[in-house]
Amino acid sequence: MAIEAHGGTLVNKELQGEERTKALAEAEQLNPLIISAWTVSDLELIGIGGFSPLTGFMKQADYEGVVHNTRLADGTVWSVPITLSVTADESAKYPLGSEAALKGEDGIIYGTVKVEEKYSYNKELEAENVYGTTEAAHAGVGKLYERGDVYIGGEIKLLNRPDHSDFQAYHMDPKETRKMFADLGWKTIVGFQTRNPVHRAHEYIQKCALEAVDGLLLNPLVGETKSDDVSAEIRMESYEVILKHYYPKERTRLVIYPAAMRYAGPKEAILHAIVRKNYGCTHFIVGRDHAGVGDYYGTYEAQDFIAQFEEELGIQIFKFEHAFYCTECEAMGSAKTCPHDKQYHVHLSGTKVREMLRNGEKPPKQFSRPEVADVLIKGLKETAPVK
Ligand code: ADX
Repeated sequence: MAIEAHGGTLVNKELQGEERTKALAEAEQLNPLIISAWTVSDLELIGIGGFSPLTGFMKQADYEGVVHNTRLADGTVWSVPITLSVTADESAKYPLGSEAALKGEDGIIYGTVKVEEKYSYNKELEAENVYGTTEAAHAGVGKLYERGDVYIGGEIKLLNRPDHSDFQAYHMDPKETRKMFADLGWKTIVGFQTRNPVHRAHEYIQKCALEAVDGLLLNPLVGETKSDDVSAEIRMESYEVILKHYYPKERTRLVIYPAAMRYAGPKEAILHAIVRKNYGCTHFIVGRDHAGVGDYYGTYEAQDFIAQFEEELGIQIFKFEHAFYCTECEAMGSAKTCPHDKQYHVHLSGTKVREMLRNGEKPPKQFSRPEVADVLIKGLKETAPVK
């Protein structure tokens, strides 16, 4: 038996065929509401069931529940608000009970929303409770502060998908990954979230998990990330290369997670686990400082937080300590398995690694597979800003 979707039912809010054609024609006549790429990705994830049990942008009772208690109004665990914002001035254009066309900045109508509720909210409170800080310097909080002051809550319809043509081969919906796992005969599947190229510590914890389950879903986030993260295009190539050289083909699958990164640490770890459950994973990896940024969260804060909800979530969490290569062990390990002093541990900060790669320098092979470093050096050179 496959794992149940979060809340019991895998949501599908995407229209197809004639129904879609008709809805699109009708949407042309509706009041347009322009949405950011971030909101387009949320719309897609609601539509394809990645955010099950959500069927629309959150109404006030769900929103308040999530911000104050990490739960939807009906008690289901949910950790990050999924909301549609407009400015107070714009809000008058969308009367209660009406429907609006959700249009991207590219002019494409991606879907519609039923304006069931409009409510104001407290940005600082959302920042503090979801991100653990009110500082605008935090990448996720900064984004939150840019949003309009009114949230519109209501059911959506998904009519068009954002363009994933660059990664078409790796684009699958939750219902498709579920079928794929069944076809492969995998009963236990570990999901791995990442917004970075896969380095040796990632590989180590994935493979530790893979010793215990049937298959690995490498599920990199390819939506909006902060500007100094390596772009999804370059990362995808690096994933292809590492899988080809170092992973068993029959036990690994690469599928994109088309969401925006919020950098909400512990709260985002729960969201990440819920989504992977919806994609059909039975296990999910939470390592050091999951979904963290800067020094906002403690190294194991995400693990401690998600542990409180694990039973209810129904997806099993593999928690890994900070992993490294030890030159004395001549192997990867963590404080749980390596007895040697810190001086023997190969450790490089993300900033240092990016600097090396930008200078065309390969990080030590104890840190990054050389094939991956080659892809990153080439990719970063091609995309380097002209000075
Ligand atoms: S994240 O923002 O997507 O979490 P990243 O891509 O770096 O960032 O991490 C992906 C996963 O690997 C997360 O679960 C993270 O906690 C874990 N991780 C990253 N580096 C290490 C490490 N050195 N040791 C243990 N876990 C790690």
